[in-house]
Amino acid sequence: MAGENNIPRSVGIIMDGNGRWAKKRGVPRLMGHNAGMEAMKRIVIASSNMGIENLTVYAFSTENWKRSTEEVSGIFKLIVKYVRSELAELVENDVHINILGDYSMLPDDSVKSIDKLLKETEHCNGMNFNIALNYGGRDEIVKAVNELLADREVTNGPGISRDVTEEEISAHLYTGSLHCDIPDPDLVIRTSGEERMSNFLLWQSAYSELMFTDTLWPDFSEDEYREMLNEYTHRNRRFGGREKEDK
Ligand code: FPP
Repeated sequence: MAGENNIPRSVGIIMDGNGRWAKKRGVPRLMGHNAGMEAMKRIVIASSNMGIENLTVYAFSTENWKRSTEEVSGIFKLIVKYVRSELAELVENDVHINILGDYSMLPDDSVKSIDKLLKETEHCNGMNFNIALNYGGRDEIVKAVNELLADREVTNGPGISRDVTEEEISAHLYTGSLHCDIPDPDLVIRTSGEERMSNFLLWQSAYSELMFTDTLWPDFSEDEYREMLNEYTHRNRRFGGREKEDK
């Protein structure tokens, strides 16, 4: 499902390596996250300029609460800082923000900033920039199944059951239940040399192309991003079928 010029229509990024970036420089971890936020800003605008329709980033997982209180609250403060400094540019670029995850348990000032970010980009019709925040793939699937079972009970009454379908589950995921459908990622990128999904878009990435780089997230450049998008255009996606020439 590539867009114009075969660039992916939907990209997911696991922004990993902020901590190691900071350690290498002997600075606090939060400086790594701050540099990670700067990298994120560059990649968001580059994606929008290149015509990517959907960009989804993993900003905070349901497992990240295990980190020190100082680090967790530092990341949440970055969200406030991001909204304050970037909102105008996002609106100017017609970027529409969505949040994947339950952000209601974040500190009040972060929740308020996010609400503002959502409200003020609501009318934007350009790229969907989806921030996975307090997000976990398994958690999302469990929530979707429970919601759809509850919906059925309201509609059908208790005890009437039929098999759950893939479409029903998809429709109850964050990506299917927002104002707009967010297509499954064509490409998922993970930085910092780690090669695993870590609970990111588990359902949606069933057929995604995966790319890994040793670059730590704060050092991830627009040039390297373009190289990966270019490599994507050469990959042959079969979605479980056979190559066209074989048929
Ligand atoms: C992973 O690096 C990164 C995170 C858990 C946080 C990512 C957050 C940002 C880039 C800022 C987001 C800002 C906004 C506004 C959404 P790590 O700490 O796991 O790195 P390590 O594996 O080297 O320790």
